[in-house]
Amino acid sequence: MALAGRTDLDLPAVEAAARLANDRAYVAPFEAAFGAPVSALALVQALATFVRGQLSGASAFDRFGAGDRAALPAKARDGFALFNGKARCARCHAGPLLSDEGFHNTGVNWGTDLGRFEVTRQPEDRGRFKTPSLRNVALTAPYMHDGSIKTLGEVIEFYDRGAGRNPNLDDQFRPLALSLPERQALAAFLRALTGSAYAPPASSSRR
Ligand code: HEC
Repeated sequence: MALAGRTDLDLPAVEAAARLANDRAYVAPFEAAFGAPVSALALVQALATFVRGQLSGASAFDRFGAGDRAALPAKARDGFALFNGKARCARCHAGPLLSDEGFHNTGVNWGTDLGRFEVTRQPEDRGRFKTPSLRNVALTAPYMHDGSIKTLGEVIEFYDRGAGRNPNLDDQFRPLALSLPERQALAAFLRALTGSAYAPPASSSRR
């Protein structure tokens, strides 16, 4: 993540640090967590330390992929098959991060949030958002860019209905007609993406 990048936060670190230093709610907690007063350098180091802590390995899914067939319970294995097949999820959530790193219109909050259009001004980018990784997704509710979907079960129901109808909807979507056991299997698969190696950054580590 580039703090100052046009397509990221578009905010110079010095300006971000100045805003934090002016907000009494942040000053003391920042210093307590990081062991240094708010500054652009401390802010960038704190963010980098956070990002390096976002490790996710050795999930049941990873162990299964490495050849441990027993790592994925039968239900999650059914979910994996649906994810790749009938439910069409892997068309976008693919590869080691379960993201194609592409931008798609799922119709979440269509009409309010313009998504990638804000950056490119191309009409076809209206309502497109980047496909998020699904690693550790069971730990990161609520869902979608605006947090408008509260549970994984509701995310699956949203896709089962064919995602959010709108004129720019990605043409991968259609009603899936998933049965209840199929929706439950998909949820079991998503829960199998929780890594055992999540390591919160040590508060003393600055690099
Ligand atoms: C056409 C591409 C595409 C397909 C197909 C697709 N997704 Fe997504 N998915 C996305 C995009 C883009 C987002 C982000 C939408 C947003 O933020 O508004 C997303 C968001 C999600 C999220 C929320 C993640 C978070 O951290 O907020 C979950 C969970 C998810 N998808 C699961 C699935 C499942 C399960 C399927 C199959 C039933 C599926 N997706 C099919 C593109 C896709």
